[in-house]
Amino acid sequence: MTMTKQTLLNDLKKEVLQCKKCRICKCNQVFSCGNCDSKIMLIGEAPGKDEVKNKKPFVGAAGKNLTSYLEETDIDRESDLYITNVVKCRPTPIDNPNKNKKPDNGEIRNCLPFLLKEIEIIKPKLIVLCGGTSYGALTNKKSFKISDIRGKIFKINLNSVNCDAITIFHPSYLMQYANENQISQTKDDLKLIKSYLDLK
Ligand code: URA
Repeated sequence: MTMTKQTLLNDLKKEVLQCKKCRICKCNQVFSCGNCDSKIMLIGEAPGKDEVKNKKPFVGAAGKNLTSYLEETDIDRESDLYITNVVKCRPTPIDNPNKNKKPDNGEIRNCLPFLLKEIEIIKPKLIVLCGGTSYGALTNKKSFKISDIRGKIFKINLNSVNCDAITIFHPSYLMQYANENQISQTKDDLKLIKSYLDLK
């Protein structure tokens, strides 16, 4: 009997929910959302407070910003995308559990096998790397500028999956720091991303 994508994902989710590899694992794991049969997989950094509360990626301020960019491009986040994060727990500093921090290398390393399994299950045609953490985690590159790499389609080879990938500015960067040009570049990137929905 072949297992369906949904069954495989449910099994993986159970593993993620039981994980205790890092200090930040405190029953605050957030798995994925969207359509597991989508051709496009969008990968963010890690959940924040709102994501943990709702048990769903990209539902806080950055998520709302992402959703409005997607809507403007006529991409439906629930039916057109599978959405997940590199790190499944909310990274917080040791001395302040109410603040967010960037996931560190150990947290990324511990969580990466889950993401690689997700990619193997979903088999996307396009991976959208949302910001530097997901680009760095999946390419192993350490020194890059998002403004140099964004918007360019490249091939990515991960275990048994060979597909296209593209990097975009992270929506929380866009909210806080982006200039008009970067906003317009992101809209162009999303149009390119949308064209993958029409692929066979
Ligand atoms: N929410 C997420 O789920 N991921 C991010 O990268 C940012 C906010």
